[in-house]
Parts: sequence; structure tokens; C-alpha cells
Amino acid sequence: MHNLVPDQFDAVKKLLAKHQLIFDNAIVGICAMHERVITQCNRRFEELFGYGPGELDNQNVRILYPSAEAFDRIGRIGYSYLLTHNLYSDERVMKRKNGETFWCNADVKPLDPTDPQRDVVMIFQDISKRKASEAALQAAHAHLEQLVEERTRELHEANEALRAEIRLRKETEEVLLVSREKYRVLFETFPIGISITDDQGKVIEINQALRRISSRTLLATLMGGGKKASMSLIHENGAPLTHEQLPNVLALKEQRVVADVELGVRYSDSQVRWFSVTAAPIAVKGHGVVVTHTEITERKRMNELDCQRRAELTHVSRLNMMGEMAATLVHELGQPLSATLNYLHGCQLRLESAEYVPELFHSAISQAICHAEQAAAIVKHLRRQCMRQEEPEFVPTDINALIEEMVGFLDFEQRQQRVTILPSLCKGLPLLLCDPLEIKQVILNLLKNGIEAMSETEESNRLLEVTTLWDQHRWIEVSIADRGHGISKKELAQIFTPFFTTKQSGQGLGLAICRSIIEAHGGRLTAGNNGHGGATFRFTLPAEK
Ligand SMILES: Nc1ncnc2c1ncn2[C@@H]1O[C@H](COP(=O)(O)OP(=O)(O)OP(=O)(O)O)[C@@H](O)[C@H]1O
Ligand SMILES: [Mg+2]
Repeated sequence: MHNLVPDQFDAVKKLLAKHQLIFDNAIVGICAMHERVITQCNRRFEELFGYGPGELDNQNVRILYPSAEAFDRIGRIGYSYLLTHNLYSDERVMKRKNGETFWCNADVKPLDPTDPQRDVVMIFQDISKRKASEAALQAAHAHLEQLVEERTRELHEANEALRAEIRLRKETEEVLLVSREKYRVLFETFPIGISITDDQGKVIEINQALRRISSRTLLATLMGGGKKASMSLIHENGAPLTHEQLPNVLALKEQRVVADVELGVRYSDSQVRWFSVTAAPIAVKGHGVVVTHTEITERKRMNELDCQRRAELTHVSRLNMMGEMAATLVHELGQPLSATLNYLHGCQLRLESAEYVPELFHSAISQAICHAEQAAAIVKHLRRQCMRQEEPEFVPTDINALIEEMVGFLDFEQRQQRVTILPSLCKGLPLLLCDPLEIKQVILNLLKNGIEAMSETEESNRLLEVTTLWDQHRWIEVSIADRGHGISKKELAQIFTPFFTTKQSGQGLGLAICRSIIEAHGGRLTAGNNGHGGATFRFTLPAEK
């Protein structure tokens, strides 16, 4: 420079000043380094790293790296690269004076390409903002990707749900189809007439069974569709049935099931067809009611016939009952009436023969009264029992007393038939619950049968034993044993059958009446032959508890 003429010197000075100005005002940080020590840097470089003017001069560039490791790594990579290339560029993180790190772009150029480690010029640009925007962009991108992923997943799930719903709908449709088909077949083949109306009560569907049993006019009448001159509707009792009383009209109006209404359709020739109708509302909008119609004309006719038959039967059985009652009356009254007559005849004879012994008269008339009273009691009893269907009246009774009374009753027969009745009555018998009049009839019938059975027996052997026994527990047994002809095996099977008799003037009712009385008292009446060649009749009755 000393060799320069002053003008040249000034020019060089100006140029240097101009270069220094450019160097200092460059918008990038520039620094020159000698073996990684800063020899010179511009103001922008110092500002970039947060240092004051001249503060970085002669400083090792290590202080600008965030770590020794970064310093070594970048130095190693950069310088080895410069061995083969003339320029090394990278983007890196550097450290400011206050410890802050920031992103910058570094361009490194060696001054001597043959020895790139010695002197280099480095240009630094702060790219933090760009990096931040890049990071923001990347984050936005990642967020977008995440959103897309989420949306895709949601879409996928929605697709799956849609597919499942379609599957379900298909299945439901199939089920619906099957059920509709089932309903159709059922509706068409159901043996009961069915009609369906809309919500205005107009018939919209009828099944085959209804078509079979009813004409259009009949259906219109049954459903109340206008007045038909040829037909009218009637109640079960024959009274006219109004439109409002029709089951379908009621069911639609009141929204309830109207079941089993019997109504008749009367034709102009007075014939009536009967129907049982049930109407139920359908709980679906636009629908009305479902109505079933069953023709019951035949059933009603059969019922009427049945009732008629029943009435006839009742009549016949009443007649039978009357007949039975008459037969019983005849049977039971026979003995007391003939006894009464006998006593009265006796009195008459004595009067005619002027044989007047007051005591005998007194006794005979008392006996006649007794038998007449017995007859009256029987009539009263039977009337009560048969006419009013009353249960027999059970009272605690001493069976021995009844037997003794009946033996006394048969005083006349004993004398007439020369029979001796021998009562052998158990002492201390408990009372029994019975209708005394009925039990007396039983005893009387059995004693009479015994007397009658011994008509052929030798007089000395005409003994009729009446015995009472108690099993100390529940049953009292009465047995009546005669010494008559006994009962053959064949007869034994029949003697309790009403109207079976081997006697000329017998009715064959005595034993049947006895058995029914004893069984009505909860006891049993049996017959058999005994060791004396005669028959023994036994009946049991429960003792009073
Ligand atoms: N003690 C007896 N011994 C033998 N046979 C008897 C005896 N009691 C009844 N029978 C037979 O049983 C039959 C039916 O007796 P039941 O008392 O029912 O009728 P009935 O004596 O023939 O006539 P009635 O109706 O007048 O009594 C008798 O006809 C007789 O053949
Ligand atoms: Mg008899």
C-alpha cells in the first residue's frame, strides 16, 4: 500500500471502506475462521448469535455450538466434505450467547481448497422461522392425517353398521315375509269366517270360510252395511238388534274386544240363521277390526233338541219317580192298613156277637190307631221326601227300642201265623243316628219276610230271632234269622232287584226299599242262608260318635 500513489491509495481506501460497509450491512452473518477460531465476523453474525461488536473476535467457534459433540460431529463431516467439494452447506442448530438454540443455514467455503481446514468463510442465515413454519406445517399435516385416519375409521365403522343394518333388514324382511305368508295361509284356510275392516268399518278383506257361509247380502247385514229388506238382525232372545249393537261397530267405537255375541239373521220367510260373532280392534293405524263369524244354526238346533229331550226325560223320570212313590206307598201302607182293618174287623165281630169286653176293645182300638198312625206317618214321610226332595232327618235313636216297637206291631201276624219272634238284644248299645221311621220300615219288612218264609215250616219251629250286636267300635249290626225255606243261589242274586218276587201276592219291593234306606244311612244290608235251613238278613248302621 505504501507503494501506491496517493490517488490510488485513496481509491483503495474508499474501496475497502465500501467493502467494509457491505460486509457490515450484509443481511446474512459472515465470518472468517482460521482453524476454527473466528478471525473476523460481520455485525449481522454477532447479532445472530447475540454478541456485541468485537466480542467474537478470536473466539473458538466451539462456543457457538450447543454441545461439544455437535461441534466435533459437524466439524468432522464438514471438513471431510470440503476435501472433495468446494462448498459445504447444512442446516443445523446453533447456540446464542444467552444459551438459546436456533436453527440456521450454514454455507462453508474454504479460502484455500487444498487446505480446507485452515481458513474458511462461513455464511449463516437464521432459518428458525422457516423451521417453525415447517414444523407447524408438519404438525398440521400430521393433524390432518390423524383427522383423515379418524374420519376413515368412522366411515369404516359407519359402513359396517350400515352393512349390519342391511343384513338385519334383510333378515327381518324374510321373517316378515314368512309371517305374512303364514298369516295369509292361516287367514285363507281358517275354518271360521273372518272379515277385516278399515278404520271406517268398511270391509276390506274376507276369507274363504266366510265366502263359503255367507252371500254378499248376508255379510252386509251381519256387518251392518245398510238395511236389507230381505233380512233383519235379532238378538239371542229374538228382539231386534240395532246397528250400534253390532259387535264390529261396538269394538271399533269402544276399542275393545266384543266376544261371543250370538246374533240371528231373520229372512223374509221367517227362517233364522244364527251366528256367534267376535270382534277385536286392530291396533294399527288405518285398520279397523277383525271379526270372526261362526255359524251356529245347527248347534242351536241341536241344543234346542237336547233341551227338549232333557225336558221329556225329566218328565219321564218324574213319572217314574211318581210311579216309584206310588209303588212304595202301596207296599209300605199295605201292612199298617191291613193291620188296622184286622183290628177294626175284630171289633166289629165282637160287637155283632154282643161279646163286649171293654179291655179287649180298648186294646184292639189302640192297636188300630197305632197302625193307622204308622200309615199316616209313612204317607207324610214319603210326601216330604219325594215331593220336596228333602234329605231324611237323622236323630239319635235306640235301635233296640225300634225293634221292640215293631215286634209289638206284628202282634196280629205272629198270632195269625203262629210264629214266635225272639228278640235277643244287646245291652248298652250306643245310640245311632237315623231316620227312625225309615229304620222301622226296614225292620218291619224283614220281619214280615221272615214270617212269610216260614208259612210251610212246622209250627213248633216257627221261630224268628232278632239279634243286635255292637263291634265296640263303630258298627251296630241287626240280624233277623228265620227257619223258613231259605234262599236259592239263583234267587240270592235277584232278591234286592225291585219287583222281584216269588210270592203270589208279593210286589217284590220290600228288600229294594230296605237296601236303599240302609245304604242312605251309610250301612249295608246282606242276605244269606243259616244253619237252621232258613235265611238270615243282616244290616249294619254306624253308631253315633
Ligand atoms: N226271609 C226270606 N226267606 C226266603 N226268601 C226270602 C226272604 N225274604 C225275601 N225272600 C225272597 O226275596 C223276594 C223279594 O222280597 P221282597 O220283600 O223284596 O218282596 P216280596 O216279599 O216278594 O214282596 P213285598 O214287596 O210285598 O215285600 C221274595 O219274594 C222272596 O223270594
Ligand atoms: Mg217282602
